[in-house]
Amino acid sequence: MVFRPFHVGRCRVSDQIKFLLSEDQMPKAWYNLAADLPVPLPAVLHPGTLQPVGPDDLAPLFPMALIQQEVSTERYIDIPEPVRQIFRQWRPAPLYRARRLEEALGTPAKIYYKYEGVSPAGSHKPNTAIPQAWFNREAGIRKLTTETGAGQWGTSLSFAGALFGIEVQVFQVRVSYDQKPYRRAVMETYGAQCVASPSNLTQSGRAILAQRPDHPGSLGIAISEAVELAAQREDTKYALGSVLNHVLLHQTIIGEEAIAQLEMAGDDPDVVVGCTGGGSNFAGIAFPFLGLQLRGGASAKKRRIVAVEPAACPSLTRGKYAYDFGDTAHLTPLTKMHTLGSTFTPPGFHAGGLRYHGMAPMVSHLKELGLIEATAYHQNACFEAGVTFARAEGIVPAPEANHAVKGAIEEALRCKREGRSEVILFNLCGHGHFDMQAYSDYFSGKLQDLNYDESELAMALAGLPSVPA
Ligand SMILES: Cc1ncc(COP(=O)(O)O)c(C=O)c1O
Repeated sequence: MVFRPFHVGRCRVSDQIKFLLSEDQMPKAWYNLAADLPVPLPAVLHPGTLQPVGPDDLAPLFPMALIQQEVSTERYIDIPEPVRQIFRQWRPAPLYRARRLEEALGTPAKIYYKYEGVSPAGSHKPNTAIPQAWFNREAGIRKLTTETGAGQWGTSLSFAGALFGIEVQVFQVRVSYDQKPYRRAVMETYGAQCVASPSNLTQSGRAILAQRPDHPGSLGIAISEAVELAAQREDTKYALGSVLNHVLLHQTIIGEEAIAQLEMAGDDPDVVVGCTGGGSNFAGIAFPFLGLQLRGGASAKKRRIVAVEPAACPSLTRGKYAYDFGDTAHLTPLTKMHTLGSTFTPPGFHAGGLRYHGMAPMVSHLKELGLIEATAYHQNACFEAGVTFARAEGIVPAPEANHAVKGAIEEALRCKREGRSEVILFNLCGHGHFDMQAYSDYFSGKLQDLNYDESELAMALAGLPSVPA
């Protein structure tokens, strides 16, 4: 029998689509960008003394192994073998060449995407949930508290808690709790407890509910609630799904795999795109490529690295680079980052994982150094991009991931206008199977391009803590 390649339009489907690594090729260490930064990160400050915090200040919230990773400047940090053993269930994650999307856009660009939706939770979040739970279990911790915006992080930590016998309490931002009841059911399936935030379980939650009983919640408020509970008990710690250096570190496995997979494909990206809420999946795809550039000196390939955020919560593009709290009730240390102000409540758009007032200090620092670019889009444009992607590639992206899809499509269309066949890589950080109400709202024209309240933003920025330069 003669094999005849199947054609869709001009695209030969027999051309390679998936670039897969074996389990043995999974990276053995995380890459730490702090080792290669041209200028070190500004210190994290104690809000009372305004002096740099030490490991002991963080010890009530995190186990020492994670605190050490937080401040480490070692270039590579070993991934513990038991963590790699669990990762084998879905890692290495596939890299795809989006041939049908290229065809649909009529672009000469080559588009690749790394797909993190293959994890049990449906996103990149287990890449850090598993090691965080493991290091906590090693330190004898019995309970973890956390926040969740999209529900992806809460699901991931609940999954990790089930694997290591750790109790998990999740504070799910109220709008997300109402929009996605099945996320809560998944967390409960893994044995976790999930409440809507603001809640009556904490002082910070009760104070907010007293002022506004129908408060939609925010990641800043949910973080306050989780931190408050963790600080009260010896056997309980707090786990954060993004922002902190050690969380970004854990996600670098994404970019490290992508470097090896693109080598298999014989390509090297000119543009790397990721969506940004707190910055972890963006860091995951981008930092290993940035590291190559920083270590390579003047002769190294300069790639454009583009962070995409929601126009309704634009911390990187509209926020102030200043010291601020990571939470609304001001229970965390002060970090220098792009911020909209810790009391700012973003409007209730559908990409709940991107509704955070700040940005990872490491990502903010790179923006200040001119090593990355940032851009913002409204949700309708992102859903339109997500639908175009789904109709070509078959995968329905999470609303957060749609921001990266939009960024990549814009780059591909620019290549078309300029007649350039650049290589574009983006991180498809999660699937949208629990987000179909958002897609239904988009199809029925109910999705609004919400604008943040300028006066609330001005007020939140006016309330930034004053820290001498
Ligand atoms: C699918 C998905 N993408 C992105 C994000 C944003 O977080 P980060 O910027 O840390 O990747 C979230 C957060 O919950 C998410 O669930």
